[in-house]
Amino acid sequence: MIPAPMNELSPQAVSPRERLIVALDVPSAAEARALVERIGDAACFYKIGLELFTSGGAFELLEWLVARGNKVFADLKLYDIPETVRRAVANLRASGASFLTVHGQRSVLEAAALEKGALKILAVTVLTSFDKSDLAEMGPGVDVGALVLGRARHALEAGCDGVISSGLEAPAIKAEFGRRLLVVTPGIRAAGNRPADDQKRTVDVAQAFANGADYIVVGRPVRDAADPRAAAAAIQATIGSVFAR
Ligand code: C5P
Repeated sequence: MIPAPMNELSPQAVSPRERLIVALDVPSAAEARALVERIGDAACFYKIGLELFTSGGAFELLEWLVARGNKVFADLKLYDIPETVRRAVANLRASGASFLTVHGQRSVLEAAALEKGALKILAVTVLTSFDKSDLAEMGPGVDVGALVLGRARHALEAGCDGVISSGLEAPAIKAEFGRRLLVVTPGIRAAGNRPADDQKRTVDVAQAFANGADYIVVGRPVRDAADPRAAAAAIQATIGSVFAR
């Protein structure tokens, strides 16, 4: 039994432009700033991930982004004993980031939620790069749909705000948990474009939102575009038309 919603979310409060989160998957903070400058006003929400957090200057970059009116998703995918996660979240909640990712069992998620303040904690369900063979490594008979739903339930019960989920599992999460959990969806690729990279469970921009995603995370399709600003603007145009309906 899911407790009364603690995270009731108002979709109206999210502007369509904020629903695109551009992943700054570049080697240095200087390159991240250059990419942000190139994208200009075509995005206002950025994700800083492990590459930048391990390269130095990530917290200065975060401050710089927030000072320019952007929101920031700290994709640190924390996973440790609950006490260590609790103390790390306590440090991060004053960083200016809006979203933070945490992996793990209910006790780890609960520890993160305890210290979150205004920071939204997103639980990782199953990586969008995982396919059947990766799941088979976890044990026999692991069903991705059941695993994602189980982890989403733990996230809600632990007091988290949302989950990271592929667009393929988003409909089941929304059907079961509705607005009580945010769904943030990476693994966005153009329709019919079978990725030549590590993302396996992909959907396109319109499909992600039709399936119930609240936000999408897009990295390489923007970063590697000849014109990243135009690529982000095209995604914004699609989002605008989805939410105008
Ligand atoms: O380049 P691409 O669009 O695949 O980037 C997706 C981004 O989302 C990457 O920064 C990756 O770390 C992140 N991500 C993901 N799957 C998750 C959580 C985060 O792909 N479950």
